[in-house]
Amino acid sequence: MPHGESYEPRNRFTAWMDARLPLLRVMHESFLTYPTPRNLNYWWTFGGILTFCLAVQMITGIILAMHYVPHADLAFESVQHIMRDVNYGWLIRYVHACGASMFFLAAYIHMFRSLYYGSYKPPREMLWILGVVIIFLMIVTAFLGYVLVWGQMSFWAATVITNLLGAFPLIGEAVKEWLWGGFAVGNATLNRFFSLHYLLPFVIVGMVALHIWALHIPGNNNPQGIDVRQGKDTVPFHPYYTVKDLFAVSLFALLFSYFVFYDPEALGHPDNSIKANPLQTPPHIVPEWYLLPFYAILRAVPSKLGGVLIMFASIGILFFLPWLDRAKTRSARYRPLFRQFFFLFVIACLGLGYLGAQTPEGAHLILARILTFYYFAHFLIVLPLLSVIEKPLPVPKSINAPVLKGAGAAAQ
Ligand code: HEM
Repeated sequence: MPHGESYEPRNRFTAWMDARLPLLRVMHESFLTYPTPRNLNYWWTFGGILTFCLAVQMITGIILAMHYVPHADLAFESVQHIMRDVNYGWLIRYVHACGASMFFLAAYIHMFRSLYYGSYKPPREMLWILGVVIIFLMIVTAFLGYVLVWGQMSFWAATVITNLLGAFPLIGEAVKEWLWGGFAVGNATLNRFFSLHYLLPFVIVGMVALHIWALHIPGNNNPQGIDVRQGKDTVPFHPYYTVKDLFAVSLFALLFSYFVFYDPEALGHPDNSIKANPLQTPPHIVPEWYLLPFYAILRAVPSKLGGVLIMFASIGILFFLPWLDRAKTRSARYRPLFRQFFFLFVIACLGLGYLGAQTPEGAHLILARILTFYYFAHFLIVLPLLSVIEKPLPVPKSINAPVLKGAGAAAQ
C-alpha cells in the first residue's frame, strides 16, 4: 500500500458511510497509510505498548468490578473471593495489579525517550502537554485503585495522602472532609474512590485520542530530531510499524507474564495482604514503586504545605518544558552536553525512587533534598542555560545521511 494514498471506499456501503461519517477514512489515514519516518528505533514502540497496557487495564478492570464490592466491610473479602473462588479471578487480578506497574514502566520509558530526543520541542508542544495530563491522570487513577483493595497499605496510603490536603490554609480541612465524605477515611471514601477509579480510565482514553491526534498533525519526531521529507523519508505505518509494534508488544508481554505467573507479589507490599485496620498504623507507609520519586520529593521538604506544593510542582513543571529548553536542535545525539545532563537527570530520578522507600532521616533525608533540588534545577537552570551556551553538533541534512555516509555524517 503506497503511503500518502488516500482512502477509496471499496463498496456501496462504505461509500455511503464515507459521505456521512468518514470513520473508515480517518482510521485508514491514521493507522494504515500514515507517513512514518523510516528511522524510528525501538524506543518508538512504547506508544503502542502503552496503548496495549491501557486496553489490558480496562478489560481486566471491568471484569474485576463485576466481582468487587466497594464497601469498607466487604472490599477486602471480595478481593480474596476474586482470588480464590472466581474462575481465573487470580489471573485477572494479577494481570491488573502487575499491569499497573507495567503501564508505568512503559510510560516512564516513553517520557524519557521524549526527553532524550527532544520530542517536546516545537511543533510538538501540545502532544507533550497532553502526555503530561495523561501521566497525572494515571497517577491519580493508580492511587485510587490501590486504595480499593482495602488492605493496610491501601488504608494508610489514603489517610496520609488525603491528610496532605489539610495543609492548605483556610479551605484545606473542608476540602479534606468533603473528599472523605466524613471525618476520616471510611466507607464513603472507598465508594467515591471506586467510582472515580472506574471513571478516570475513560478520561485517559479521551486524552490518548487527543494525544494521537496531536501527534498526527506534525507527524513523528525521529532519533535524529530533524524534519522529514514526506515520501522520501517516510514509510506507511502499515505494515512497517504495525508489525514492529506488535513484535515489541510481544516482547513486553513476556516480561509482563514473568511477573504475573512467577512473581506476582514482587511489586506490591506484603502489608496490603492484611485487612485495613484504622487502629493500627503500619511501621512504614510506602506507595507503589512508580510513585516513590514523588513521595521522596514530598518528604524532602520540612513543611507539610511546602512538600505538597513541591510534589505537584514536580509534575507541573513538565508543562513548561517546551519553553524552558529553547535549544533549536532536538535530538540529544547532536547535543553532547545536554546528553550528559540527561543521564544525570535519569540518575537523580532513580535516586529519588530509592529514597522514597527509605525512612526520611539522616543521610537519606539530606540526599533526598539534594536530589529534589537537582530535579528542579535541571528544568529551571540547566536546560535554559544549555539552550544558550551549548554548541550543538551539525545535524545531518536528511535522515538518510548517517546511514549512507556513516553514523553522525553531517550536512556540508
Ligand atoms: C496512556 C498513555 C500513553 C499512550 C497510550 C501514548 C501513546 C503514544 C503513541 C501511540 C505515540 C506514537 C508512537 C511513539 O512515539 O511511541 C506517542 C508519542 C508521543 N508521546 Fe505518548 N502516550 C502516552 C503517554 C505519554 C506521556 C505520559 C507523555 C509525556 C509526558 C507522552 C509524550 C509523547 C510524545 C512527546 C510523543 C511524540 C514522540 C515522537 O514522535 O518523538 N506520551 N504516544
